[in-house]
Amino acid sequence: MRTADIRRRFLDFFAARGHPVVPSAPLPTPDPTLLFVNAGMVPFKPYLTGEQPAPWPRATSVQKCVRTLDIDEVGRTTRHGSFFQMCGNFSFGDYFKEEAVALAWELSTTPQDRGGFGLDPDRIWVTVHHTDAEARDLWRRIAGLPDERIVGRGDEDNFWSMGVPGPCGPSSELYYDRGPAFGREGGPEADEDRYMEFWNLVFMQYERGEGPGKSGYPILGELPRRNIDTGLGLERMATLLQGRDNLYETDETRPVLDRAAELAGVRYGASPEDDVRLRVVADHVRTALMLLADGTTPGNEGRGYVLRRILRRSVRAMRQLGFADPALPELLPVARDCMAPGYPEVAEGFARIADRAQGEEDAFRTTLKQGTTVLDTAVAKVKAEGGRLLPGQQAFLLHDTYGFPIDLTLEMAAEQGVEVDREGFTALMTEQRERARADARARKSGAAADTSALRTVLDAHGPTDWRAWHTLTTESRVLALLGTAGPVPAAREGDIVTLVLDRSPFYAESGGQDSDAGTVSGASAEAEVLDVQRPLTGLITHQVRITAGELAVDDAVVAAVDPEWRLGARQAHSGTHVLHAALREVLGPTALQSGSYNRPGYLRLDFPWRGALAPAVRGEIEECANRALRRDLPVDVRWMTLPQAKELGALTLFDETYGEQVRVVEIGGAWSRELCGGTHVEHASQIGTVALTAESSVGAGMRRLEAAVGLEGFGYLARERDLVTRIAEQLNAPRAELPDRIAGLLDRLKAADRENARLKARATAARAAELAAAATGTGRIALVTTTVDGTPDEARALARAVRDRLPADRPGAAAVATADGVLVLTLNERARETGLNASALVKRLLGGRGGGTPDTAQGGGIPPARVPAVLADLPGLLHAEDA
Ligand code: ALA
Repeated sequence: MRTADIRRRFLDFFAARGHPVVPSAPLPTPDPTLLFVNAGMVPFKPYLTGEQPAPWPRATSVQKCVRTLDIDEVGRTTRHGSFFQMCGNFSFGDYFKEEAVALAWELSTTPQDRGGFGLDPDRIWVTVHHTDAEARDLWRRIAGLPDERIVGRGDEDNFWSMGVPGPCGPSSELYYDRGPAFGREGGPEADEDRYMEFWNLVFMQYERGEGPGKSGYPILGELPRRNIDTGLGLERMATLLQGRDNLYETDETRPVLDRAAELAGVRYGASPEDDVRLRVVADHVRTALMLLADGTTPGNEGRGYVLRRILRRSVRAMRQLGFADPALPELLPVARDCMAPGYPEVAEGFARIADRAQGEEDAFRTTLKQGTTVLDTAVAKVKAEGGRLLPGQQAFLLHDTYGFPIDLTLEMAAEQGVEVDREGFTALMTEQRERARADARARKSGAAADTSALRTVLDAHGPTDWRAWHTLTTESRVLALLGTAGPVPAAREGDIVTLVLDRSPFYAESGGQDSDAGTVSGASAEAEVLDVQRPLTGLITHQVRITAGELAVDDAVVAAVDPEWRLGARQAHSGTHVLHAALREVLGPTALQSGSYNRPGYLRLDFPWRGALAPAVRGEIEECANRALRRDLPVDVRWMTLPQAKELGALTLFDETYGEQVRVVEIGGAWSRELCGGTHVEHASQIGTVALTAESSVGAGMRRLEAAVGLEGFGYLARERDLVTRIAEQLNAPRAELPDRIAGLLDRLKAADRENARLKARATAARAAELAAAATGTGRIALVTTTVDGTPDEARALARAVRDRLPADRPGAAAVATADGVLVLTLNERARETGLNASALVKRLLGGRGGGTPDTAQGGGIPPARVPAVLADLPGLLHAEDA
């Protein structure tokens, strides 16, 4: 049964039993405790905790999930996937244990021709929490399971939570016995490979607090209602129903694995090491595809970093398999074809996805190149000092700064005869990890403390009457003041506190627009507003500094936005929309904003694009934006449903969740139509001007435009004019001639560089031809040995150039050594056909140090004085091997 059929069958089954089908949420989640959705229940969390009323009593979904905690297990076990799909049925205070058990049993065991999965009831085992007599009894009664196939387990296995504070409860898991070929007898306790878990039923009853591990946290209390949350692993069910060994071999991933094997020229099943690599590629390429489709872009932090790591790991695995060309352009289309039937977004956004992935792969290849230079230099230094050990600090630097995986460092150092201080490296890595963990803990506990205090305020007073769209001033009452340690009754001059008002005119930072500045004043206090946020749905908080007097809970105050600030904010936000529309008009629809920020006088906008924009294109975009200002396009705000907005082609940006009605901001009608909660001008000329100030790269395949807006825009232009005046004075040239003058200088520089490179290449070629002509024979083999006064790269280039000039109809070998003791050996095709192997030869010659491919290998650590002797050994060795 194809994965798509399993997915459909699951949803149909639950839809027919009163569960509305809810589409998968995007992978990046607004939940501050998570980076990506990691379980089917995540989008329903507010309904499960009772924070929001559930719109339906029950529901079903197939949710995209990403988990990377076990990333090192991927490919090594049969059942770890960094991306997977969780089929779930949910009850929000509707049915509980009995129906959940009955439904799971029915769908699992109903024959396939009657809409079920047709699993053999005699091979199903279940686990229950050891204290849950009720669940045990239900499995006996409903499924007729014998006692020995109902296994009681403790909190570690059968008590489920998201790993962070939130809903939780005892669980019951269904396992399928795949038979003796897969492992030991004895149920899930004995072997989780043979007995594959496929469905987890969570009886959600409690709310948990902060704490480590799977059981080291406090239970804060009962949830308002008892819920059901289940998760059936779609990939695992596919593994079972398709009779596969592991989840990388199912119909949605196997084609990627096969293509990777084909590219690398290896056979799946031939070597356990390569098999792991192929499975890693199959898993990671799909995960990257799904993350990119949902708008995540590679970066150095948070979500972006997870994606970057996944992409790099796939490129690296391909290299280890022996494929050194760009791999993602070959593999992603295969993953797309597998996933598009279930997720049309991967096909629709594919041009953008492929572009970003390739940008990242290109960047990683450059990284590899740069890192190689750093490594070579470090190795040369070690050797110059007579050592054999690369310091751990160097390996750490390569890892941390150049993204060099340690195994790569080990391998490449070994090629040059140097070992790596692994202990030193590991110690530095541990130190770094500890620091990161401490950071994360500090962040999380801070957030949790705040959130729980804020939730109390929200529960007591209800949502803030938020007037940011309507007015600049409100008469308000102080509902709460929170210091770092929690609620306080009053705050004094100099204090910085979080202030909650019953009503607020301040715009809270969101959608790229920075928060409003202004003041809050009472009868006996003045406060300056530093930051405004919306930490919980419906709740606005103000971070304020008390500038005079004392502010107390219950005080009547006037909250006033600084009108100048707000005008600037409206100009900048509308300016952002105008620039976005201009960008798309000039570059086309793939230039979709992927992040933005604006505050009075300034805006920036990130969008996917490869390569810098030509000045003419920048000029065109700027002109297009300013033409919209001059045409004085009207700005309109309209409310509608999300489907209506989509129908109108409104741009919905990622990472946002939308309610029933969405707010659409239009500039010039359809010219610019975006879902947006920001504050805007009424017509475009109020923006004043949009002057582009910078265009730069913010990571692979991602550009950033920055602009000065309104009065700042004019200021910027005036400063540019002064600058040109100064340069004209320096070059002593009329302004109009400056570009030509500078271009002339650059051309001369470039020509000199080219000439330099040409001379070098010519010298190598000439030397190679000379050497090849003077090749000596050893038996049937033509051999050239020589030394260069250069780097290992230069030695390699020369060796290959010589080899390519040796007669092709005769086995040929070229060996080039550097003065400081690195040797490169390369063989022509005839030589390889006779069974010679460069890697094996170098190892023989240098006593195991070094290696490479059968074609070209490299080794080092030869004491410089011994270089001629080593080269002299080569003819004898070749002769012996060839004989
Ligand atoms: N939320 C449960 C899980 O992820 C079903 O296993």
